Amino acid sequence: MVTHYNSQPNLALGGGCSVASLESRELPYDAYTHHLSVGESAKYASLPTQSRKSEWLAGRLAVKYLFLNRLEMSQGTQGRHWSPNLSKLSSEALGVYSPWMYQKVEVVTNNGKPSLVWCGQARSECISLSHSGSVSCASIAFGPPTVIDLETTHPRIDAFYRNNFTEAERSWAVRGAGGESTKANWFFTLLWTLKESALKLGWLNSLWNLPRIEIAGLPAPNNIGPFWHCKTMVNDFAVFTLSVKEHCRVMQVRVAVTGTRNFILTVMNPLSGVVK
Ligand SMILES: CC(C)(COP(=O)(O)OP(=O)(O)OC[C@H]1O[C@@H](n2cnc3c(N)ncnc32)[C@H](O)[C@@H]1OP(=O)(O)O)[C@@H](O)C(=O)NCCC(=O)NCCS
Repeated sequence: MVTHYNSQPNLALGGGCSVASLESRELPYDAYTHHLSVGESAKYASLPTQSRKSEWLAGRLAVKYLFLNRLEMSQGTQGRHWSPNLSKLSSEALGVYSPWMYQKVEVVTNNGKPSLVWCGQARSECISLSHSGSVSCASIAFGPPTVIDLETTHPRIDAFYRNNFTEAERSWAVRGAGGESTKANWFFTLLWTLKESALKLGWLNSLWNLPRIEIAGLPAPNNIGPFWHCKTMVNDFAVFTLSVKEHCRVMQVRVAVTGTRNFILTVMNPLSGVVK
């Protein structure tokens, strides 16, 4: 079953899972580097290109903002229904906190996987980052590990469709597209975000193994297809459960999806441990 949760974007983020997006190209060049810790500044300086620097910085600013916002607001409680809260950040929103506060929140990584340190102490909140085009997204959540994946829906080479998806996944996407190739790209991109999210949850150890996993229990395409018509990403998520399968392993996951014609944002967390 797919449930839609649609609410006003809320910068007072409270509990549950909070997600923020930030356009990296809207950030003035190098204006936010003094929001980084010493370790982050060194990493930033070592990044190879300006676009990689911009997305990396935007992701960090977004997750630091989410954390500081949570510290400031009461933690709140998750309502009866789980759905992430998405907000769109800007330079103005980031300016609510001073650079030294941003410096005290550090994003550290272990084999790429990010986590938070606040005033030198590791934090238990689960964070996740994803970048696509000029948009960076970050999430912060308590409880089960929660990950995000953001992708643009541009067409890909034939081998992408042929090699990365199972027969059942392909027929789901093709049925949902109803013969429209741009719509097919959308559904295949959604499948890809689901697989990458499973990877970020630690399900597989390499991107090359993604074709081996199958996303099962997919909802009727017309329940999530309406995002395909949207021009801007809003705080409206389709929430449903799925199974991620690989040979005899199955993981039940809860998924929230939002998007536009050009972007898909997937939020995923496991409902159960890995069943062998
Ligand atoms: C993890 C991975 C799927 C990211 O996918 P992507 O679409 O290329 O990139 P996204 O923009 O969506 O996500 C990038 C973010 O993922 C996060 N990330 C990287 N590795 C991660 C991991 N193992 N687990 C969770 N998150 C991870 C990082 O925060 C990164 O952002 P940053 O570079 O600004 O810190 C990709 O890096 C990958 O396949 N890595 C190789 C396999 C791997 O690391 N496997 C380990 C699984 S245990």
